[in-house]
Amino acid sequence: MPDDAPMIGHNAPALPPEVARRRTFAIISHPDAGKTTLTEKLLLYGGAIQMAGQVRAKGEARRTRSDFMKMEKERGISVSASAMSFEYDGRWFNLVDTPGHEDFSEDTYRTLTAVDAAVMVIDGAKGVESQTRKLFEVCRLRELPILTFCNKMDRESRETFEIIDEIQEALALDVTPASWPIGMGRDFLGCYDLLNNRIELMDRADRNTRAQSIKIAGLDDPKAAEVIPPAQLSRLREEVEMARELLPPFDRQSFLEGTLTPIWFGSAINSFGVQELMQGVANHAPPPQFRGAASRDVAASEDKVTGFVFKVQANMDPKHRDRVAFVRLCSGHFLRGMKLKHVRSGKPMAIASPVMFLASDREITEDAWAGDIIGIPNHGQLRIGDALTEGEDLRFTGIPAFAPELLQNVRAADPMKAKHLEKALTQLAEEGAAKLFKPMLGSGWIVGVVGALQFDVIASRIKEEYGLPVRLEPTQFNGARWISGPKEKVEAFIGANRGHMAEDHDGDPVYMTRLQWDLDRVVRDHPDVKLTAVKETL
Ligand code: G4P
Repeated sequence: MPDDAPMIGHNAPALPPEVARRRTFAIISHPDAGKTTLTEKLLLYGGAIQMAGQVRAKGEARRTRSDFMKMEKERGISVSASAMSFEYDGRWFNLVDTPGHEDFSEDTYRTLTAVDAAVMVIDGAKGVESQTRKLFEVCRLRELPILTFCNKMDRESRETFEIIDEIQEALALDVTPASWPIGMGRDFLGCYDLLNNRIELMDRADRNTRAQSIKIAGLDDPKAAEVIPPAQLSRLREEVEMARELLPPFDRQSFLEGTLTPIWFGSAINSFGVQELMQGVANHAPPPQFRGAASRDVAASEDKVTGFVFKVQANMDPKHRDRVAFVRLCSGHFLRGMKLKHVRSGKPMAIASPVMFLASDREITEDAWAGDIIGIPNHGQLRIGDALTEGEDLRFTGIPAFAPELLQNVRAADPMKAKHLEKALTQLAEEGAAKLFKPMLGSGWIVGVVGALQFDVIASRIKEEYGLPVRLEPTQFNGARWISGPKEKVEAFIGANRGHMAEDHDGDPVYMTRLQWDLDRVVRDHPDVKLTAVKETL
């Protein structure tokens, strides 16, 4: 039975039905495991796209929100996170796309602050890969419930028990089978659905349908023997019996606490196992949850609208040259035209053209509920971490900015274009695409990133979107730390270290390091000043 109750441990009033039916989740995976293919099938069943192939279509007109940048196509990676909404079986799904490449982990981290659950896709032949592990760690930090989809079962894959053991050991996560594969590779027939006692057969001839779904009264039901050859059936019986003995049963509380994951086996490309997974998200993933703010927790059942910006995207549509802030609504029923308080500036903001992303296009939405992701076009007022409320001074917590590990000087190829460059860099920094530092001495800018590939993305975007060729050059610095402490101590620190000081795009002071020795020295000389590698965005 679906369970729409708020998370255990919170004594909150019941959620309004519209909120209770929402499921906001992300898909995490190692590149190539099949995230794009699975996303496409989810959207297909959700009626959000009409034909398979749209998510990865190359044609300009058929590009979707998860594939709108030229870089993405050239590199074959997904650079930007975007959100897509669709309905399935009475549930409203908000799927937030996460970039798969490791260079974009910061963006991914922030994306995961906006969801209530995650689907982890693994390749049946490869098991838990490096990026799966990293992304999983982020989910664990956020205590997100995880549903696992083991993909590519139509190919030679590992033994089912081996896959489950690897997840349990590599991720220290209990696994319970929601389905069990019948054969594998060329002999893969389909799955036995343990939760609903059904046999699901894969259709090899038609990639968009399922062959048969047969309700059975257990594996001894003669109906099972009609569709599964004897050798495969006896093996299935043995394996399922062993699985029931050795593996924990599904327990919703452990799942919600993020310590137990149900696993489905399937083949995204053959649309196999996808609907069972969707049903799993519908039935088991939690409805919109509490969000932590500095002063209190905000419950999804509250009447007043609140939300926070977890992503800013400039120039989404080259035709429109706008900037869209993605807001996770945390509570209330949002109506188009509402005036919300922008807490950081204290100013009211009329939200006249909120957009929701319905896979193939973005559309103005008349309303939205807690759990939804809305896009708000704006001219730069909205930044990552900003809160919108009906008046309360809330500050949502847990949306960090990480210190960059790689730094480069950036210059416009044409020195007359320095002002233009400043504007472009500031926009990209506000979007969270890079950190931007203005050294206190000298001129010019330094950009900082977490992964080297981000430099290429930045140079390419400045050229494409602002028509400005730029040069990125090595700098003497290789790290940055935000500084804080009593005002006079911070001023003394800045005075003593001018050659190392810069301001970030929010105007906050940053100490640039060359060597570990620099850090050791300033920590010793200025014990009252705190240096941090993570800044919580206000
Ligand atoms: P990603 O977003 O996680 O990077 O993975 P994506 O969906 O792009 O899938 C990676 C490759 O795996 C693709 O092949 C895709 O067709 C294939 N694939 C996805 N699901 C399945 C599956 O269930 N079974 C099998 N056998 N293959 C699957 P490609 O050759 O890289 O691309 P394409 O030419 O097929 O589009």
